[in-house]
Parts: sequence; C-alpha cells; structure tokens
Amino acid sequence: MGAGIDAELVRKLEQLGRVSDVPGELTRTFLSPAMQRANDLVGKWMRQARLETTVDAAGNLIGRLAGPHREAPTLVLGSHLDTVRNAGKFDGALGVLLPIVALGELRRRGVTLPFAIEVVGFSEEEGVRFSSAYLGSKGFCGRLKAADLALRDEAGISVAEAMAGAKPRRKMRDGKSSHRDWLGYFEVHIEQGPVLEKRNLAVGVVSAIAGQSRFRLRWTGKAGHAGTTPMDLRRDALAGAAEFALAVEALARKTSGLVATVGQVSVRPGAANVIPGETVHSLDVRHARDAVRKKALFQLGRLAASIARKRGLTVHWQRTQDNPATACARELTATLARSVKKIQGPCPSLVSGAGHDGVVVSLEMPITMLFVRCRDGLSHHPDEYASGRDLGVALKVTIDFLEALARQQA
Ligand code: GLV
Ligand code: MN
Ligand code: MN
Repeated sequence: MGAGIDAELVRKLEQLGRVSDVPGELTRTFLSPAMQRANDLVGKWMRQARLETTVDAAGNLIGRLAGPHREAPTLVLGSHLDTVRNAGKFDGALGVLLPIVALGELRRRGVTLPFAIEVVGFSEEEGVRFSSAYLGSKGFCGRLKAADLALRDEAGISVAEAMAGAKPRRKMRDGKSSHRDWLGYFEVHIEQGPVLEKRNLAVGVVSAIAGQSRFRLRWTGKAGHAGTTPMDLRRDALAGAAEFALAVEALARKTSGLVATVGQVSVRPGAANVIPGETVHSLDVRHARDAVRKKALFQLGRLAASIARKRGLTVHWQRTQDNPATACARELTATLARSVKKIQGPCPSLVSGAGHDGVVVSLEMPITMLFVRCRDGLSHHPDEYASGRDLGVALKVTIDFLEALARQQA
C-alpha cells in the first residue's frame, strides 16, 4: 500500500473535524454554513482524486468517476458529512474520506475499475436540525416526501425553504426513474459500540441495521405563578413529560435489546418562577426486531395517555421518523467478508444499533457496511477516536474489496 495513506486519511479527518458552525466544538447541521464549507473542502479532495463533483438540491456532495463505458454500473461509496452537536470527527466523515483516499491509491497503482464510482457526502443523517434523519439520502434517492419537506426546525424554517435557499449544481434524482445501473452501496463507519474492542479486532462487517422510530411529543398544561399556585391545582407540562421520560427508561430497561431515549427537551415559557405550560421533547426508540419496537411504541402510547389523564395535560405525538430494520445484502457482504478474512483473519458480523445512510439507500440498491473499532465504543462525543492503525486496516480491506468487485465485474 502507498506509503502514508493511513496518515493522509488521519490528516483529512483532523482537517474536516475543524469545520464547524460552533467555535470550540464540532457541530455541522443540514445546509448550515459549515456544511457548505465541508462540501467545498471535501469537494476539493474529491477533485484531487480525479472525481467530478456536484452538489444536489438536498446539499449532498457527489464525486463521480466515470466507468469505462456509458452502460457500466455505478458503485456508491459514502456516508454523511453532518454531525450531532459537539460531535467527534469520525462519525460520518470516515465513510466519505476513506473512499477518496482509497481511490487515490488505486489510481497511483494504475488500477482502473470496470464500473463507475460515486462517492457521496450525504448532507443530513443525524436528524439534528429537523428531528428527522436521512434527509440527505432521501434526496439522493429521490425519496423526499411532502411530509419531509414540511418539517420545520426550531426557527420555523421548513426543509423545503432551507433547500430553496441552498445553491445546488445538480437536481435531485427523480424517484420515479429506474436506476438499474446501481452495482451497490458501501459504507465504512466507526462501530459506535464496544464489540470490536472487546474482540480485539480492527474491523467487522455489518449484518443489519436496527429499526428506529423518532417522535416529537408536545405536552400542554397551564402556565401560572410558581409562588402562588398550590401544588394540587397545577397542570405542569414538564412534570408530566419527566414522568413519561422515566417510564420510557423503565420500559427499555426491562425489554431485552430495546433502547429508548428522550434526548432533547424544550420548556415554555421557561422561567424559574413560572409553572411550565408546555414541554416539547424528542423520543427515539430502536430494536433489531420490528415487532418488539412496535409493541414498545404501543405501550409508550398508553403510558403517555395515562400520565396526561392523571395530570390534566394533553399530549400530542408527531412521528418524525420510522424505519424498519434493514438487512445488508448477502452477496455484497460475502465479498466484503472475504476481504476482511484475507486482511485481518477473523471476520465478526455485527448488528448496528445506530442508523446509517444505507437504510434509505437500501431501498434502491444492495448495501454493505464495514465497521471500524473505536475507543471505548464511544461516539456522538468529542472524544470519539479510531486509531490510524485500524483506519489502515479499513483502507486495505476497502481496496481489496474494490479489486474483488472489479474481478467479479470484468
Ligand atoms: C445516527 O447516528 C443515529 O442516531 O443512529
Ligand atoms: Mn453516522
Ligand atoms: Mn451519528
């Protein structure tokens, strides 16, 4: 392998990790100024690797390397360039930058591929701005629905308005046209969990991505004076939401494999001496088995209704996301697993509790994913870390995988 490509990848991750909307931390959200700067920087690296770059109407950065002829199928490699608030440098960015470095190495080796390549930096995967994930991959696949476009951020700006303000150089794909020329989708991502570390292995393949539902709940009570309103005459929206958050936690604790989180809360009017009249919060519920997730959602619906009744509140649910569990493609993953075995030896197969762009892309083409060990399994945190050595293993596996696909297609 070309000298220093692991170091080149680490350098690029470091540099992109400094592109942020918020000084002193890494935060990049859908169509923000920092996302524009990230697209400019990564676009420059794509062009250095001889990819032709465009940005579509959903803000996705796409780098295309033409195939040997017009009918050649296209392999998509990518992940997201947006981040959570106060994020680490690897979640998403790795899956965009690693393919660029790998393709640069293949070009130096004089390898030409019998298929076209698109490296995609999806504009939105984390669901931070609109409480709904996958807006980027939905745009890429022509699957943004009216309900997605109508979602509003905290400033009241809708997805449609935010997209109209963006300056795309390429239209979104037309969801109605057929794309039989897709060879598949490959995403490299940090594991965001502890399994590879526990097994002392750098990489593993993904068998499936857990199903995921997200909601925005609005609890309405009555604001009033915190000093003069007796406790038994209150309709405190925050107290109801808090009781519900504890019920969410209790249900997830007693249901094997279920994870459920209330991660974002806003209280109105929001003053120390005013009883909360309204509380809006997120709810994120995941399980590898759809039936378990659905049963939990039913139970949570009943619990919320009973808390609201008891406290004289109303509760309104808005579903912002709903994705079934997604299986990775058998054949493509078998090819990837052969590359892992060749480079690493053992090839663990993992279920992803985190969501990934592949969930939406899988509706268009077969997907496969490679996970890379990260320290303490930590992610969505500034201390997120994967070693240069492990990234080197992922690069070797990716290059071997691309060469294996080339042999299959030749
Ligand atoms: C994306 O990181 C998710 O929330 O799973
Ligand atoms: Mn991610
Ligand atoms: Mn993430």
